[in-house]
Amino acid sequence: MTSPSILIFGANGQVGFELRKSLAAGARLCAFDRATCDVADPEQIKAAIATCQPDIIVNASAYTAVDRAETEEGLAHAVNATAPSVIATEAARRGALMIHYSTDYVFDGRKSEPYTETDAPNPLSAYGRTKLAGEESITRAAPQHLIIRSSWVVGAHGANFMKTILRLAKERDVLRIVADQFGAPTSAALLAEVTAQVIGRYLGGEPVPSGLYHVTNAGSTSWHGFACHIIDWATRHQIPLKTKPESVMPIATEDYPLPAVRPKNSRLSTRKAADAFGLTLPPWQHSMDSILEQIV
Ligand SMILES: NC(=O)c1ccc[n+]([C@@H]2O[C@H](COP(=O)([O-])OP(=O)(O)OC[C@H]3O[C@@H](n4cnc5c(N)ncnc54)[C@H](OP(=O)(O)O)[C@@H]3O)[C@@H](O)[C@H]2O)c1
Repeated sequence: MTSPSILIFGANGQVGFELRKSLAAGARLCAFDRATCDVADPEQIKAAIATCQPDIIVNASAYTAVDRAETEEGLAHAVNATAPSVIATEAARRGALMIHYSTDYVFDGRKSEPYTETDAPNPLSAYGRTKLAGEESITRAAPQHLIIRSSWVVGAHGANFMKTILRLAKERDVLRIVADQFGAPTSAALLAEVTAQVIGRYLGGEPVPSGLYHVTNAGSTSWHGFACHIIDWATRHQIPLKTKPESVMPIATEDYPLPAVRPKNSRLSTRKAADAFGLTLPPWQHSMDSILEQIV
């Protein structure tokens, strides 16, 4: 039997980079980054799919500049909504499985409990609106699809909160970090591993029901709690920092105004994905420590 063909869009992002490692075994991989396929151009998407002839398409491309999206919603929509719609239509035409990623920012954060897949989205930002439009177009167009919603993604490759905190802590004596938004820092490598596990099940003929799934690391914290964890780890590992652990100050969202409004509660219930695919999701601290080891 010939090995299955898997196409990755956004192969140089945090998740895309990890996917290239996790999906490499036993498959023909076609990995496209922005330079080789600009997904804002539907013709480039169609050409990439025609070249690769994939059995499975994993879309890790996204416009993820949450604040910039407020003034660039057209481009964010092209990447986060139109591109997934084109990919989904092509996947349906080929009978391919489509796997896509979405975000906690589709919710308004007013719920006090973790969000489930059946909770109604109500995005507060342009980024959230475009990501929700992407989810909806995939649900309409691709008969075989998985939409993996996650939160606060961090990888060894790419820009993220962890790297920003480490940089700032080398420059400043005091850090003021938002302490009233809660979510689960989630490893890009974990998302890639879960994707590989699901693909393994699919190729093995096990059921992979289409739909939305929430996948994050276990547990939750605030951005302030996450920053404290990073500074504590770096201090224990004798990384020279100007910021001492006791100098990471909690502040309110209102004290750090940004163009895009974020949900206060970004916590996602992962029960559906864990039950459907037999996942054990490690605590966020465990995965973040392993990324810190790679970065530092
Ligand atoms: N990051 C988070 O905190 C977070 C949280 C929840 C959900 N998610 C979702 O998880 C998925 C993966 O996110 P990530 O953290 O891996 O994001 P990322 O690191 O920003 O990666 C996104 C990739 O998409 C590429 N891209 C952007 N515009 C493109 C275009 N027009 N054509 C082709 N490629 C384009 C980017 O290319 P360049 O490198 O050239 O910019 C980047 O490599 C996304 O669907 C995101 O919405 C992320």
